[in-house]
Amino acid sequence: MEKLPHLEDLPDPSGKRVLVRTDFNVPITDGSIDDDLRIKSALPTIEWLQEKGATVVCASHLGRPEGKPDDKYTMDPVRERLESLAPGVELMENLRFDEGEEANEQAFVERLVEGCDLYVNDAFGASHRAHASIVGPPTLLPSAAGRLLAREVEVIGGLLESPTKPFVAILGGSKVSGKLGVIKSLLDKVDVMAIGGAMCFTFFLAQGRKVGDSLVEPDWVDACKELLESGTKILIPSDIVAMGPDDEVKVFDGDLPDGWKGLDIGPESSQSFIEALADAGTVLWNGPMGMFEDSRFEKGTVSVAEAVADSPGFTVVGGGDSAAAVAKFGFDTKVDHVSTGGGAALELLEQGDLPGLEALRKAAEGPSGPKSGKQSKNG
Ligand code: 3PG
Ligand code: MG
Repeated sequence: MEKLPHLEDLPDPSGKRVLVRTDFNVPITDGSIDDDLRIKSALPTIEWLQEKGATVVCASHLGRPEGKPDDKYTMDPVRERLESLAPGVELMENLRFDEGEEANEQAFVERLVEGCDLYVNDAFGASHRAHASIVGPPTLLPSAAGRLLAREVEVIGGLLESPTKPFVAILGGSKVSGKLGVIKSLLDKVDVMAIGGAMCFTFFLAQGRKVGDSLVEPDWVDACKELLESGTKILIPSDIVAMGPDDEVKVFDGDLPDGWKGLDIGPESSQSFIEALADAGTVLWNGPMGMFEDSRFEKGTVSVAEAVADSPGFTVVGGGDSAAAVAKFGFDTKVDHVSTGGGAALELLEQGDLPGLEALRKAAEGPSGPKSGKQSKNG
């Protein structure tokens, strides 16, 4: 992938106002932040700019308020946390309170950059969205990737380019439909792919196994069959922890009877996934193995998290639920890279690029380049 413009490529930020697009879309319950990884991850960029004498103005979306103000999605709790971590930073109100953000309206972009001299995108988790705050400012201001964005792209992009072998991918989550693209793009890169989470049941159907009342996507069975015939080693769970009548919980080998719903991979399957990880040079894990929010169905996810943490290889956990799982079980500091992006990490793996990255590179390539003043890329 072509190089992104970095902070050092910007004109001197001293005395300038710098608009920093961050992904502060953090989980919030009853007004308090459950996990501030995404806020802490933006600090290196913010601090670098402040040390250079810039005034930092952060902007982010939070949730999906659908283009109008909604108290439920105010940035207030984030602003409070940010102020305690990085005093003196300004934070705009939720970008998605204006419909111009998701619609990528030019007028909204112009209002956004008003009074700002430079733009930094550090919102890896939102860079798969061609929204105003992601793709607009680079057409108007000298622009660069922040530290977090640059690191995410280096690590996740690097998985596609030159992973140390053997490369083992462990994929989970509920739906195979949303991960098919990623599975396909990884298949010829990895040596082993292990599939857990509810999406394994569509693979069960493809293998002619019975799934009981488990979640399946019948329209995707043929696609799963093709994947199983691809020649890459794909591990599908052999045993499953399921819940049946009267909430009884039992482990089944092979088929699941009617009335039983699979909610975690079984101990034998965990063991085979762990063995696949033991000599891995590179590990990518995305998506939990089961419904780990319920302790009866957390063992598969905990075992995999532990094995990823113990792996001698370079280990990457791709965003969303699996990042929450490694944090919940205390393995986050033992993983080489926990991505702040869920959908963005998957899309980067699938497409090899993101709209937010393209916008930054285009701005840098433009006739004026990042050192220019306020000129459009055509100006
Ligand atoms: C995320 O949490 O995945 C990002 O912040 C993007 O949010 P979105 O899926 O609502 O665009
Ligand atoms: Mg390691």
